[in-house]
Amino acid sequence: MKYEKNHILSTKQFDKDSLILLFERARQMEEDGGRNILEGKILATLFFEPSTRTRFSFESAMNRLGGRVISGADMMKTSSAQKGESLADTGRVVSALADVIVMRHPQAGSVKELAEKSIAPVINAGDGPNEHPTQALLDVYTIWKEFDGKMDGLTVGMVGDLKYGRVPHSQYDLLKHFGVNFVFVSPEGLKMPEGYEGETTENLEEFIADLDVIAMTRIQRERFEDEKEYQKYAGSYVLDADLMACAKKSAIVIHPLPRVDEIAVEVDVDPRARYFEQVKNGLHLRMALLAMVLGR
Ligand code: NCD
Repeated sequence: MKYEKNHILSTKQFDKDSLILLFERARQMEEDGGRNILEGKILATLFFEPSTRTRFSFESAMNRLGGRVISGADMMKTSSAQKGESLADTGRVVSALADVIVMRHPQAGSVKELAEKSIAPVINAGDGPNEHPTQALLDVYTIWKEFDGKMDGLTVGMVGDLKYGRVPHSQYDLLKHFGVNFVFVSPEGLKMPEGYEGETTENLEEFIADLDVIAMTRIQRERFEDEKEYQKYAGSYVLDADLMACAKKSAIVIHPLPRVDEIAVEVDVDPRARYFEQVKNGLHLRMALLAMVLGR
């Protein structure tokens, strides 16, 4: 896959070589801080859905590279979408003002729609329940660093809302290049969609001792048609110290955050917890991605 001037819309675009190239660049960002290579460039962040870390992570990455940021944090209310403008028109306009665009939106396929008429590269920061490529990239970068690039034969357990969670969908697409085994742990009604290959279970206790990576996710409350349906699943899984006592010593726990109650706070001090460290990995990964799509 080519990075320069390319839209990053889906994890399906990536092959193993392009992933390793990106991870190596992220590691270099961690080492040399990026040396202001995006000076003179402008990033536009267009967020039509709530976000704290993803938007701040991209904006911090751009600032650290010496670039500048123009930001729409509450676009559903404040943008011309209110007046009925199409996403394609918005893309055309914003891309005349910025060199790269990062966008999040509640509708699957919406980021692709905006990218169609954009002359600047567009990066998908989450399109509804569909995909969240950069979160998955930073998750897999975390695993790659942790296991020193030797991921063949690892068992990755994805736990939580595998139906509406865009993060597990994107993680799967990337991890399948590295020869890992998958265990999908979810309630019956929130199973991974068709086409994803792995062991399926409702019972985390039964499999926890086999997992090298415990990839937790939140039940996606905002995707349910009604609150009663959500309440059926709320609190389905809680990773606590007792469960962690059954996990491998060498296992790691990742989570995109925000967490609700699926990881007990007592696990934060467990040496296997990686979810707060991942935030730094995300910064370096996004610095690398911005530099590469801008051809630097
Ligand atoms: C995730 C998302 O937005 O999909 N969060 C994130 O980007 N860090 C996960 C979630 O909201 O559950």
